[in-house]
Amino acid sequence: MSNKNEQVSTRHQKLERNVTLMAVATLVTVAIGGLVQITPLFYLDNTIEKVEGVRPYTPLEQAGRDIYIREGCYVCHSQMIRPFRDEVERYGFYSLAAESMYDHPFQWGSKRTGPDLARVGGRYSDSWHVQHLTDPQSVVPESVMPQYGFLAENTLKVADPSAMLTALSRVGVPYSETDIEKAASDMIAQADPDADPGDLATRYPKAQIRDFDGDPTRVTEMDALVAYLQMLGTLVDVNSAAAQQELAEEKGR
Ligand code: HEC
Repeated sequence: MSNKNEQVSTRHQKLERNVTLMAVATLVTVAIGGLVQITPLFYLDNTIEKVEGVRPYTPLEQAGRDIYIREGCYVCHSQMIRPFRDEVERYGFYSLAAESMYDHPFQWGSKRTGPDLARVGGRYSDSWHVQHLTDPQSVVPESVMPQYGFLAENTLKVADPSAMLTALSRVGVPYSETDIEKAASDMIAQADPDADPGDLATRYPKAQIRDFDGDPTRVTEMDALVAYLQMLGTLVDVNSAAAQQELAEEKGR
């Protein structure tokens, strides 16, 4: 062995045989690794890449989302398609971070008693959803999903839709003043065929405006929940050229 190698190995022996020295050296090494990963995050305004099409929820969708949370749907359903082949083949294109950027709280989840719902929007008809929510076993006999027929009996009541949007805008959801002002009428107009939705579809692109629960005479909790389910995963056109480009960039990183 050369002289230099001997020197290195005795130094290494010292380090490895002295517990205190080893502990300090380990700490320093781990700290450097940690800093390298964490420090850049302090200098980024946003770690979520902007993706075209993502917009805040309409008041009706947001109300439906609140019902989804109130009823504990998340106990059995996740809303995040992982980028694995089996998931993508079953549920569709994997979820992008931007698709849940306006979710407070997010619904990613890891418990899947039922299927993932991140891209359930448009997969079934409104009447299928109403039938399934009212009596899941009539559609899927072996289903363990509870029955939610009462939602169609309950008239949709949100104490103060403007306050709902204001609260969300405080945590960073970009609702405009018009959105907040018109929240109450927007919420009803999206599901009431007799109401005038005005510029709702301009302010909320791809908003689906129709009666969702099969009862056009009033707006129920069922309307709100189905409106929410029908828009899940539909905002980003994952097949468009722009989206593909975004994804290529994302992969290249
Ligand atoms: C106890 C667990 C459980 C709860 C709670 C639950 N579900 Fe389900 N859900 C399931 C199971 C299991 C299935 C698959 C069988 C079926 O379609 O009924 C399912 C299926 C679904 C489907 C069809 C998905 C697909 O791709 O076929 C939708 C939509 C759905 N649930 C919505 C909801 C909503 C909305 C709520 C809350 C109001 C809810 N679920 C609450 C267990 C649950």
